[in-house]
Amino acid sequence: MVCLGNICRSPLAEGLLRHHLQLQGKNHIEVDSAGTSDYHVGEQPDERTIKNAGAHAVDLTMLRARQFKPADFEAFDRIYIMDASNYQHVTVQTDNAAHLAKVDFLLNNLWPNENRAVPDPYFGGPDGFENVFQLVNKACEVLAAKL
Ligand code: 4NP
Repeated sequence: MVCLGNICRSPLAEGLLRHHLQLQGKNHIEVDSAGTSDYHVGEQPDERTIKNAGAHAVDLTMLRARQFKPADFEAFDRIYIMDASNYQHVTVQTDNAAHLAKVDFLLNNLWPNENRAVPDPYFGGPDGFENVFQLVNKACEVLAAKL
């Protein structure tokens, strides 16, 4: 799961995909997240994301931000990005067709081929975080069932 800062959208997606995989008895699938930037490396998720997820009984406090790196194309089978900017920043790091084929928009699990964005909630209010939760939760439930 990849976003810009790895403190709002992608750590939530990591926690929610893991949550749905556990509910579906698929605990063996490894989930991780990263940001395309190095702005928040080593930090906990944003306190607003932690609070919003916590209100839905999802604990993100153990997560720490890291930056996406080209080795992730080999380490992971699938790479889900949150928006078109993330897509650009990830795909520019490889010219390997097998790597590029691993990259998709998370919300294509809900709206195939539409390349819809999970909106960045960082500069907005609490409604933005709840909206992101609802979108990412549904997408991760559908994705977990497919894996
Ligand atoms: P995220 O949100 O990409 O969902 O983690 C953001 C976090 C930090 C910044 C932007 C977006 N920032 O500009 O520091």
